[in-house]
Amino acid sequence: MTDKPYSPASERNREPILAVLRRWFTDRQRVLEIGSGTGQHAVHFATAMPHLVWQSSDRAENLPGIRNWLDEAALPNTPSPLEFDVTGDWPSDRYDAIFSANTLHIMSWPEVEQLFAKLPAVTTADACLAIYGPFNIEGQFTSDSNASFDRDLKMRGVHMGIRDVAAVDALAAAAGFNLVEDIAMPANNRLRYWKRRRA
Ligand SMILES: C[S@@+](CC[C@H](N)C(=O)[O-])C[C@H]1O[C@@H](n2cnc3c(N)ncnc32)[C@H](O)[C@@H]1O
Repeated sequence: MTDKPYSPASERNREPILAVLRRWFTDRQRVLEIGSGTGQHAVHFATAMPHLVWQSSDRAENLPGIRNWLDEAALPNTPSPLEFDVTGDWPSDRYDAIFSANTLHIMSWPEVEQLFAKLPAVTTADACLAIYGPFNIEGQFTSDSNASFDRDLKMRGVHMGIRDVAAVDALAAAAGFNLVEDIAMPANNRLRYWKRRRA
């Protein structure tokens, strides 16, 4: 299949992310990926972690590309991608893990708020949440390259921008998720991991 979308960044970051997810998702069963983009992560992670059902999702315009990746890989653990915008209807199923990469800085802040507010409705009582991407700490960029990236984002759309860890943690806490790990990743990104508090 030749017309698959391709993200070089996704290719570069997939192994470092996988190395961490292998540990976090070892006892997980059903993952909902929000904003799957090209679908490259879905194929890579579902191949490497066959014990998981990896449910990809994204806005309608990205579904054909994701389907192309999934169809070519023909894995037994990647159901068809869901058409899903965090501001719309949420899936009715429940997942014990949520994963999202490089989405919080693309979404508007109200969309990010929606994402977190809806988590309790789609997650099991013992669910975990893993989010990868650039983050600010105490309102500061962690590198010059992130500051430059943020300027580029704001030129693409004023609603975009690198989010602060404290603001994101506050949304997670309000949704019942506590931060458990925060790992510095290559290229000034982070992989952050929350667990749902037992009721
Ligand atoms: C920079 S891409 C990242 C794609 C992929 N996760 C990756 O790491 O290569 C951002 C993704 O977020 C998705 N996205 C943006 N706003 C969204 C929303 N409101 N609901 C769901 N997905 C959204 C976009 O469609 C896009 O696929």
